Amino acid sequence: MDSIDCVKKTIEGFIEKSLVSEDLIHAKNTLEWLLKLKPDADDALKIAALGHDIERAIEHRKVKRKDYRNYDGFKEAHALNSARVLEEIMKECNVRRELIDDVCFLVSHHETGGTRRVDVLRDADSISFFHVNLPYYFVRNGIEETKKRCLWGYKKLPKNLQEVVVKFNYGDKKLESLVKAWVADS
Ligand SMILES: [Fe+2]
Repeated sequence: MDSIDCVKKTIEGFIEKSLVSEDLIHAKNTLEWLLKLKPDADDALKIAALGHDIERAIEHRKVKRKDYRNYDGFKEAHALNSARVLEEIMKECNVRRELIDDVCFLVSHHETGGTRRVDVLRDADSISFFHVNLPYYFVRNGIEETKKRCLWGYKKLPKNLQEVVVKFNYGDKKLESLVKAWVADS
């Protein structure tokens, strides 16, 4: 097995064990969206897409919302912690230093963007939240929290991709009309 396959298998192995049932679906779906937005994505971007949330899957290492004053601070700590976990996995799999640094940079900034490549990762992740996570998030967190999370994610997206997410079908009419109303008001 080459070093890239080793990294992908190890990432999936961790995320498979996550207590959050949609984590593996979201990881794979983010990779799919990344490839739709950038069909020639390189290995660093593909690894980053699959592993960007990995820390959330590891109970004893994940950062917790209650330990941060605001949501952005929590998300930044989450991104840095995922980069840390991925660095360890990539070292174990004998990935070359340059690629490790590239993946860590991408994942550390995946919530905010900042370069063209990080922006593609951020957008794939943000779309995927709407595509696959939202119904799970709604059940777990209720209307008010879901509204905040939805608008936070929606505002990060460029206009052309906002148009993509408003067309998603959630298999839940109530959620669908709520999302449409929230984003129309924003
Ligand atoms: Fe994510």
